[in-house]
Amino acid sequence: MRIRRRGAAVLVALISVLACAPTDEPPPRSAAGRHTGAPGIGDPDFPQDGNGGYDVAHYSLTVDYTPATKRLTGLTKIRAKATQDLSSFNLDLTGLDVAKVSVDGSPARFSRKDGELTVTPAARLDAGSPFTAEISYSGSPTPAKDTANLGTYGFIPTADGAFVASEPNGSKTWFPSNDHPADKATFDFTVTVPAGLTVVANGEQSASPSTAGGRTTYRWSERHPMATYLATATIGKFEVRQGRSPGGIPTYAAVDPKFKTGLDRVYNVSGEITDYWSTVFGAYPFSSTGAIVDDYSAGYALENQTKPLYGGFDPDEGIIAHELAHQWFGDSLTIKRWKDLWLNEGFATYAEWLWSEHRGKKTADTIFKDFYNRGAKDPMWSYPPGRAKPGDLFNESVYTRGGMALHALRKAVGDPTFFKLLKTWTAEHRYGNVTTRQFVDLSERLSGKDLDPLFDAWLFQPRRPTLA
Ligand code: ARG
Ligand code: ZN
Repeated sequence: MRIRRRGAAVLVALISVLACAPTDEPPPRSAAGRHTGAPGIGDPDFPQDGNGGYDVAHYSLTVDYTPATKRLTGLTKIRAKATQDLSSFNLDLTGLDVAKVSVDGSPARFSRKDGELTVTPAARLDAGSPFTAEISYSGSPTPAKDTANLGTYGFIPTADGAFVASEPNGSKTWFPSNDHPADKATFDFTVTVPAGLTVVANGEQSASPSTAGGRTTYRWSERHPMATYLATATIGKFEVRQGRSPGGIPTYAAVDPKFKTGLDRVYNVSGEITDYWSTVFGAYPFSSTGAIVDDYSAGYALENQTKPLYGGFDPDEGIIAHELAHQWFGDSLTIKRWKDLWLNEGFATYAEWLWSEHRGKKTADTIFKDFYNRGAKDPMWSYPPGRAKPGDLFNESVYTRGGMALHALRKAVGDPTFFKLLKTWTAEHRYGNVTTRQFVDLSERLSGKDLDPLFDAWLFQPRRPTLA
């Protein structure tokens, strides 16, 4: 009796292992009947990123950090909804020790493997039902260091605090999450640091900082949906200026003392450009704008929602225009899969050219021609920007040739249709997730033209397109 039962159990286990055998398209969903949430959200290029089986609505992050010891203590509360029956589900988290997990207020079992935290609630979660999860954790965050071209990202300890920039998948270095842009959520931040330091997170401060026992707690809240990679709680010594842009948008700029002579300029230019983009791309999607300039040479800037972060340099107008354009293209409208990254970077690059044109410098057309004239052997022509490669996500082609694709589109449909298209695109998908196919369809709908050949040549062919 015993032996036979065990035999049956082994057989069942074997069948379920076979049913889950990997295919080339990793299955986003678990096999029917097993009720385990998938360890990936279904992005074939990043199979472990994000998770399946639930959808996060809100993250409430409580973090305590001490730069001198690099020690972080965290409590993450998640409000989510099960999208299938779940006997267990995963969160993404790397390094750091998990002390306790509870689901709907009851202790839950958990295990760790690679970047996955698997949570087994005491009671099964039913498809469609809301639930809460709380994770207590601590340790010394280790930023992600990519072997390819991503550099260092995530929670990066600095001399006076931390530089927090997580694109594409570095949120898991500092809080447990569904770390993929396809699952956006609102955020609250409660961050405690040694008195004298400033914490700058997304959105607006929901309370004044309070100091007790030599430590100060900052509270920030981002009330609009946000991708996990855009979440920041950058910590350090900062000079701060706040107020409103000329157009009335609340503006908050923080610069490391090393860049304090640039504070007024960064503050003013950020407000002015946010106002200008609101006239070109449609109403600003968020409740405030701003900038953070930290003394950490990341080698890049990141469009953190409402608070672009500049890594170790005084940003010029071009890059401020770029990061603020991302507030529409990337932050409000967020890609569903990383392969469509040109929808962020091509648009933000094209915005730099529009800004140059607006300022009476080189026109977008001149900049386009300069790049075109680099010649047919330039490496960007062999890299189709409409298909960003996981090992080379931020290739120059995704930026420059992506921007050129938009200029080719502008010339094909004419200025009135092109600029109407930009506003329609941002309005129809505000706070949502988008794909390249949706942009091509909208372009065709508004222009009444067959644009497949144009997009195919500019986005998907490994050669320099011919000019119309
Ligand atoms: N999205 C950023 C920008 O274009 C670049 C982020 C680069 N991220 C990285 N891990 N290297 O401004
Ligand atoms: Zn960019």
